[in-house]
Amino acid sequence: MPSTAIIGTGFHVPDRVVSNAELTGLMDTSDEWIVERTGIRERRWVREGESGADLARRASEMALEDAGCEAGEVEAIVLATLSPDHFFPGTGVFLQRELGLAGIPSIDLRAQCSGFLYGLQVADALIRSEQYRTVLLVGVEIQSTGLDLSTRGRDMAVLFGDGAGAALLEAIDGGDRGVLSTHLWADGRHAETLWAESPSACRHPYVSAADLDAGRHYPTMDGRDVFRHATRRMPEAVETALEAHGLAASDIDLLVPHQANLRISQMVQRRLGLPDEKVVNNIERYGNTTAATIPIALAEAVRAGRLEPGDLLCMVAFGSGFTWASALVRW
Ligand code: ACO
Repeated sequence: MPSTAIIGTGFHVPDRVVSNAELTGLMDTSDEWIVERTGIRERRWVREGESGADLARRASEMALEDAGCEAGEVEAIVLATLSPDHFFPGTGVFLQRELGLAGIPSIDLRAQCSGFLYGLQVADALIRSEQYRTVLLVGVEIQSTGLDLSTRGRDMAVLFGDGAGAALLEAIDGGDRGVLSTHLWADGRHAETLWAESPSACRHPYVSAADLDAGRHYPTMDGRDVFRHATRRMPEAVETALEAHGLAASDIDLLVPHQANLRISQMVQRRLGLPDEKVVNNIERYGNTTAATIPIALAEAVRAGRLEPGDLLCMVAFGSGFTWASALVRW
């Protein structure tokens, strides 16, 4: 049975930088509050007309170039997002069209902040089943257009950013390289703890003027509950992955945690006993880009020379659903 190697990474973020200071002009907040509670100093927001498919294409092209591959070598696309360009069809087919890959399958996957790792399990299974040799995995998010930028929405609005990250995955001959395992979990009992109620196909019409007036299209969250669960589930997810291979936290060479909040990542780091140089944090510059945080952070870490062949890479995520996930990769 083949294994799955990550042979290229890439990312793209909009060029519009939105600082904490800029947000203070829109809502009652402060740079001190945002930095102290979240670690975020700035994020990237799209300009009018920029689409998720555009961001995803740019990230994908970088991953293809990194791998030394042509787009035509991609045999399947798996795209994770919670913010599709359209209610349907999924962003995956728009990306496929932009890459000029008519005919290959394009799977849209909705697992919010855990989307990239859910996608990694799907892509890894497609490769191990020997149905596809080369799969493009993308996490992309446009959060900024869905936020309540008034003081009412400040708890959410300061957290999120836009961006895309991509990884090109390829079958390699067995051995101990590549994706060692992926572990996924979900607990829908917490579905409404972090969600956007509208648009909803349960209602006629999907979006009504009353929904808009009530702000039901804006995401809401019980931040403390999310924080409590994230700081418990993320270390557990890493420990489960390590145990499956008889490994210890000290064996991890690089941890790429979902960038939800710097304080969450720091608590995960402490619980695992990892030194700073083994943990990737870029939330300071990009905020929380949901399904895109892990592939963006991974692509930056690769470019910074933080992964050597043979290194043990661990990725872990937690988010809306609740969903959470971990993955181990022998680089
Ligand atoms: N600026 C200024 N004040 C604010 C802001 C803001 N942006 N947002 C909330 N406040 C106020 C609140 O209104 C509250 O005021 P009050 O005491 O007068 O009522 C006060 O700050 C404290 O609010 P809390 O919600 O208790 O603040 P907390 O310390 O819990 O921090 C935060 C909030 C940062 C959202 C935190 O709960 C958190 O990090 N939760 C994790 C959620 C998360 O990261 N979600 C990301 C998406 S999910 C994911 O990716 C895992």
